Amino acid sequence: MEKFIIEGGYKLSGSIAVAGAKNHALKMIPATLLSNKPTLISNIPEIEDVLLMFEIIRALGGEVKKMGKGKYLIDPRKIKTTKIPYELGRKLRTSVMFIAPLLARFGKASFPHPGGCMIGKRPIDMFLAGFQALGARLREDNEYYHLIASRGGLKGGKYVFRKSSVTVTESLLMAATLAKGKTELIFAACEPEIAALASDLNKQGAKIKGAGTHNIEITGVKSLKGGSIKCVPDRIECGTFAILGALLSDDLKITNCNPAHLEVFWLHLKKAGVNFTLGKDWVKIKKSPRPFKAIGDVITHEYPGLVTDLQAPLTVLLTQSKGITMVHETIFEGRLFYTDILNRMGADIILCDPHRAIVNGPTKLHGKDMESPDLRAGMALVLAALLAKGTSTIANIYQIDRGYENIEERLSKIGAKIIRQEG
Ligand code: EPZ
Repeated sequence: MEKFIIEGGYKLSGSIAVAGAKNHALKMIPATLLSNKPTLISNIPEIEDVLLMFEIIRALGGEVKKMGKGKYLIDPRKIKTTKIPYELGRKLRTSVMFIAPLLARFGKASFPHPGGCMIGKRPIDMFLAGFQALGARLREDNEYYHLIASRGGLKGGKYVFRKSSVTVTESLLMAATLAKGKTELIFAACEPEIAALASDLNKQGAKIKGAGTHNIEITGVKSLKGGSIKCVPDRIECGTFAILGALLSDDLKITNCNPAHLEVFWLHLKKAGVNFTLGKDWVKIKKSPRPFKAIGDVITHEYPGLVTDLQAPLTVLLTQSKGITMVHETIFEGRLFYTDILNRMGADIILCDPHRAIVNGPTKLHGKDMESPDLRAGMALVLAALLAKGTSTIANIYQIDRGYENIEERLSKIGAKIIRQEG
């Protein structure tokens, strides 16, 4: 199994570009199946989860052609089945994003339960309820769920979310694009990637209003044209690199990003005493004149609140901040267990319950042999290892490759001592 070997304590400097957003790309790709024409997608991050999504398209009969770095032409005209392959469907939670286009275009979709992951059990009850609100009927067998649209296809309807869900919002937005009549989504999620997806679809002829707010209205159309769409910058990478700069650099520039997607996050860095400047599509991190301060409490929240995907990297910064901070992870029930690994490196974190941890800093971290529990915690361990005294190894780096393109090469370019050991 591949692992990273990291020498900690080296200063970083220079400039690092943010890649396309994983959580936009993983919806743009299935959304191209809503059209009956090819679509060119660009600024796509070359990451494991994207490659798996392409595998699913090919398994369905569609074609994916690489046109250049981060650029792919997706041709859905030869789709021959609406059944998502069992193994692929189970391996990648975001395989659920194919249900909407298959159901909307072909009137049916079959898929395995996408399974949970380390961060939580990740149910699909709201997906199923949402598609049924558009007239689909559900049948289950012991391996697959089968959704069948009523005769004449999906019908517009109204769906009220009992809790905010990003991918359920995106799924229903996609499905409603081709449903007959009007659809209303109440208490929809507001993440920037949702507004980006809606803008992609509107460019192809969809009629979506209100994406990015809690109330979205979609008027169904007969078909979508192809065209070309570009992935927005990854706000999670941007925030992660800003924390890396705060921990290890006197002069780091982060480019190709959109700081406006992280307003609340910047407030937390400011309160901790991080010295940064925000540009239109860049962020500059300079040496902080004084030690970082604890910030009392960190509460993750749906957008525009503090994004849960930056909770783990921010906690690494809090281990270096003077005082006590309560970290409250409100979205997922399994997203704090990595703190035990940070404690083995020398951090002082009390895990109060699955949703809350108390961080006491600053503490000196020392290198350890570790394993990445999940995507975002894995990246947090990379930050901690780059900071720690001595050598660390991180195994199960597939989890990190799922969401960060060529991360060791990009970090090495700004001075990090990190290598990938094969096998
Ligand atoms: C998206 O996940 C992101 N993934 C996650 O990023 C992100 O952490 C999350 O939104 C919250 O911002 C992608 O966009 C691919 P949810 P999603 O549905 O949509 C519950 C990363 O690290 N729920 O918003 O799957 C669920 O259990 C990933 O890049 C139901 O109860 O998250 C959770 O408690 C991790 N029933 C809450 O909703 C359902 O049918 C929010 O989850 C669906 C979800």
